[in-house]
Formats: sequence, C-alpha cells, structure tokens
Amino acid sequence: MTGAPPGPPVTIRRATVADAAAVVAMLAEVADEGRWIATEAPVDVEQQGRRLVEDIEREDAIVLVADAGGGPVGELGLHLARYGVADLGMVVAAGWRGRGIGSALLAEAIDQARTAGAHKIALQVWPHNAAAIALYERFGFRREGYLTRHYRRRSGELWDAVVMGLPLD
Ligand SMILES: CC(C)(COP(=O)(O)OP(=O)(O)OC[C@H]1O[C@@H](n2cnc3c(N)ncnc32)[C@H](O)[C@@H]1OP(=O)(O)O)[C@@H](O)C(=O)NCCC(=O)NCCS
Repeated sequence: MTGAPPGPPVTIRRATVADAAAVVAMLAEVADEGRWIATEAPVDVEQQGRRLVEDIEREDAIVLVADAGGGPVGELGLHLARYGVADLGMVVAAGWRGRGIGSALLAEAIDQARTAGAHKIALQVWPHNAAAIALYERFGFRREGYLTRHYRRRSGELWDAVVMGLPLD
C-alpha cells in the first residue's frame, strides 16, 4: 500500500468464525461514531455475532477482513442475491483509515464478486460520507439513485441515502 504510514503489513483474507467477536467489536465502535453506518449504537453484540457467523458460513455471502497481525482492522461483507447483485457493506477501524485498507478490501471484493458470478455490486451510503463516496467512485461505482428522508434513525431523524452501483459484466 503506497503512501501508507509505517506499520504492520495488512493482509486481506476471508473471515473465519474465530474473527466474529473482534469484527463485531469493531462494528460497535464504528456505530458509536454515529455518522457512517446504518447500524446504530448500542449494538446488540450477541445478535450481531450470530448474524456474522451465519454470513461467514453461508454460500451466498462473502466476508473479508483486513488483518494487521493482531486481528481484524477492517471488514467487508457481500450478500449475493439470486438475481446476480452483490450488496456491499464495509468498515475500517477509525485508527486505521486513510492507509489504503478500504481500497485493498474493495479490490479483493470486486474480484471475489466477479468470481462468484455476480454481474453487479450495489450499495447505499449516507450523502455526508464523503470519504466512502470518493472511495467507491475511485473504483468505478456510479450514483444510480437517491433515497430522500428514507431511513428513520433512533434520534427520530429521517436520513437520505445515495444508491451506488458497479457493473461487473
Ligand atoms: C470509507 C472507509 C471504509 C474507507 O476506508 P480507508 O481505509 O480509509 O480507505 P483508503 O485509505 O483506501 O482510501 C480512503 C480515501 O478516501 C479519501 N478521503 C478521506 N477522507 C475524505 C473526505 N473527507 N473527502 C474525500 N475523500 C476523502 C482519502 O483521500 C482516500 O483516497 P486516496 O487514496 O485517493 O487518497 C472508512 O473511512 C470507514 O470505514 N469509514 C467508516 C465506516 C464507513 O463509512 N463505511 C462505509 C459505509 S457506506
């Protein structure tokens, strides 16, 4: 990863059940930031852990982690719909952002989605999430739609979302 600050090398690999607790802890920390992901604090770690283990074990999902040697510092999940679209969600731990980890996860996810036979990757992102939108656009994702006042947050606010897609065929 060019331009990354010095630090341990980061490996992108498929998640295993042994990663589940650490990934959920990371997800809970990102949810605590309150601005970036759909999952809201407080995260039910038991329930999220069960869901993640199911995803790791099922055929129609791909879960990748970025492993810095001491455990996962980033995670990316793809859910493969029968009609050929892979829905993507991802997080990088706050202290590890801006070092190319999101890019490395996304590059591997695109390869794996294509290998799995998907013709497209789709995702939704909050309009204020400039870093995520810039990352997705750099990989060729295009804005395909805009959902207005769509998601009710625990605060009662209604948030918009940008719909983005990357054709793979
Ligand atoms: C979005 C996210 C996954 C990116 O991961 P990352 O490891 O920081 O990604 P990278 O280091 O590979 O690249 C980040 C890019 O965003 C750019 N960036 C960072 N902040 C930015 C901003 N405010 N506006 C525009 N671009 C920004 C960086 O410059 C970098 O691009 P570059 O390589 O061309 O310089 C990470 O920020 C994250 O996990 N955020 C919280 C959770 C989240 O938003 N998930 C996505 C939900 S849809």
